[in-house]
Amino acid sequence: MMSRSRRDSEETWQRNQQSEDSSGEVVGSSESTRSRAELIRLLNEDPAREYQAIIAYVVYSQVLKGAQYMSIAQELETHAAEELQHASIISKQIDYLGGVPAVVPLSVRTSEDPEQMLRFDLENEVETVRNYRARVRQCEALSEYAVAEHIREILVQEQEHLIDLATALGDTPPTIT
Ligand SMILES: [Fe+2]
Ligand SMILES: [Fe+2]
Repeated sequence: MMSRSRRDSEETWQRNQQSEDSSGEVVGSSESTRSRAELIRLLNEDPAREYQAIIAYVVYSQVLKGAQYMSIAQELETHAAEELQHASIISKQIDYLGGVPAVVPLSVRTSEDPEQMLRFDLENEVETVRNYRARVRQCEALSEYAVAEHIREILVQEQEHLIDLATALGDTPPTIT
């Protein structure tokens, strides 16, 4: 037998489905279209960070000098490949939602100093993790659970990138607020 709360929520859902205005249009549809457009706009901020990360990791992994940085240089090559996958996944989600995926990377900072390069990467990863955490909440607010799930999987890798960089720098991974 169906529980009372489940039945109540299904009845509410049915009522919502039936709430049409005099023109026959479902009330609230323009509201949800606006929210969807807003989610597309927010998601479209993410490819710029992914392309920035691809460029930074491709270049930094090749120019890092010094025996102590050889193992992180190899890690950065792996990061580059993962960022490319992220760019594809995000672009696919934007297309699914009806948007046009962005194509312009954020600018990439460079330095002659290996430690400074790794710090630039770490700062960017912190910013990326902060944004994807917000994106999961924004997707779920619109019941876009599958999109949120894809972003969660990306988020797991971004946090690993952040930990790899902090470890190479001898830092504790930063707390992200
Ligand atoms: Fe990424
Ligand atoms: Fe990353």
